[in-house]
Amino acid sequence: MKNLIITSALPYANGEIHLGHIASTYLPADIFTRYWRHMETNVYHLCATDDFGTPILINAEKESVTPQQYVKSWRDSDLKDFRSLNISFDYFSQTSSEENIQLTQEVFNKLCKNGHIYEKDIVQFFCDFDKKFLPDRYVVGKCPFCLSENQYSDLCENCGRVPDKILEPRCRICGNVPVKKTSAHYFFRLSTFAEKLRDWLTTNLNLQSDVTSYVLKWIDEGLDDWDITRDLSWGVPIPRKEAKGQVFYGWFDNHICYISSFLSFLKESGNSDGKELWNNSEIFHFIGKDIVYHHYLFLPAIRMGIGYEYKLPDYIPTRGHLMLSNRKISKSRGWYIGLRDFLQLFPSDYVRFYLARVTPYSQTDINFDWDVFIERINNELIANVGNFIHRTLSFINSTFDGFVPNPSVYDDDDLSVEDRISTTPELVGTAISNNEIEKAMKEILDFSSNLNRYFQKKKPWKERETAQNTLYISASAVRTLAILLDPFIPVSAERIWNQLGLTGSVHDQNWSRASQMEMKANHKIGEVQPLFQKIEKSKLNLDKWKVD
Ligand code: 2FM
Ligand code: ZN
Repeated sequence: MKNLIITSALPYANGEIHLGHIASTYLPADIFTRYWRHMETNVYHLCATDDFGTPILINAEKESVTPQQYVKSWRDSDLKDFRSLNISFDYFSQTSSEENIQLTQEVFNKLCKNGHIYEKDIVQFFCDFDKKFLPDRYVVGKCPFCLSENQYSDLCENCGRVPDKILEPRCRICGNVPVKKTSAHYFFRLSTFAEKLRDWLTTNLNLQSDVTSYVLKWIDEGLDDWDITRDLSWGVPIPRKEAKGQVFYGWFDNHICYISSFLSFLKESGNSDGKELWNNSEIFHFIGKDIVYHHYLFLPAIRMGIGYEYKLPDYIPTRGHLMLSNRKISKSRGWYIGLRDFLQLFPSDYVRFYLARVTPYSQTDINFDWDVFIERINNELIANVGNFIHRTLSFINSTFDGFVPNPSVYDDDDLSVEDRISTTPELVGTAISNNEIEKAMKEILDFSSNLNRYFQKKKPWKERETAQNTLYISASAVRTLAILLDPFIPVSAERIWNQLGLTGSVHDQNWSRASQMEMKANHKIGEVQPLFQKIEKSKLNLDKWKVD
């Protein structure tokens, strides 16, 4: 049986999950996973929190808790949010797990042994008051170009330039003037992997070409070696006596967690040969476009550097940013939609439906607009899909006492619907497996519009003679819809399944069975209720997200 390992980029244990994360990463990965669970395939969907780094340490100190307590509370919160959106991870780990720390140190030792690591002294800002080395974001000062005050030492937000030497530097935590200190750091020889990376990027045709083309440009411009050390107490300790008090840079250990989580998961399920299974699987790392550099260069180079012990990704599905009312999302300015806030207003399937409907398989940014969201939910999910299903099931109740009628000889209209039932599942499945979820959703909506037209044309409330065929075929189409919708809107799909009075769960149905008319004549359907509720904008309070 085919094995698929699917990972979603690891959220920092440092803030709430918002719709931007969902659109680019977690939802596409979840739809993909849920689809493959309907096929005869072993699927593993893995994720973890990204626990290390200066911002997390500083925030923990601010809240007077240990970094462990701090990341635990964000991990619990993220898990709760993912669950409420029905993101179905098989395993959710954390980069600070014992297993990840151990594997990261092992990887480092192998890289050293293979000659890919060297040491070099570097000079950094140090705050004598906070007793901390200060990474770029933690030094503020005057921009040497435009002289604007209070700019980060690695980026002036006023003129957009990257200052080489910030003027009048100050520690962002306490405001004191930092000093410069030297310390020895470990560097990964990324530059020596340029040709191997180029080869891999040009021969692995599963990668999106709109991404690889600019990654190749970065290689042409020359790759810098990577400083993988941080002078910090919160991180994976560097396994060298002389590196006491130093840890790995978070981007060294976080992607290793893709592998360590898989190994831990398998071990916990009693299978100790995770490496073998990893190497016999298709590997997918779902990400947003802001972390392309790390996944297309750093991650593969490190796997190459340890002798391809764990195979490289086959796919790195990469998607663009979500804008909110055509403006870039900014957490610091509060311009974003938190998942938790959103789910207080709407059922989880609404956001899953909408984002799936508008998110392409490319780096193009997408826009979240409240009016478009409301219109699509009301006109597409409810007036198209919900309407057909509810109409069919209510009609069976009112006219056939809740029993699926017995069909007789089909006419051309019936045959044409039967044909669509037999062909649509494959079209939808192919689109999902090509990662084109918005195309897959469009296929489902076309299928459903066609069913509405059929119902309307056959007028079963008037045409008593053909009503039995119409309702038998419509009930079968509802069953097909339940399976096709399951990866996208799993709660509603299960409700449709139950309303049809079918046994078992829709999640366990084989995809190929969606193309068969398997409803039995005389089958008693379940209790019928409207699936969705129309959104009435006037009743919503969206002030928080108003554009002024
Ligand atoms: O950019 C981020 O949010 C990172 N926490 C993603 C990490 S993905 C990985 F582990 F490679
Ligand atoms: Zn300070």
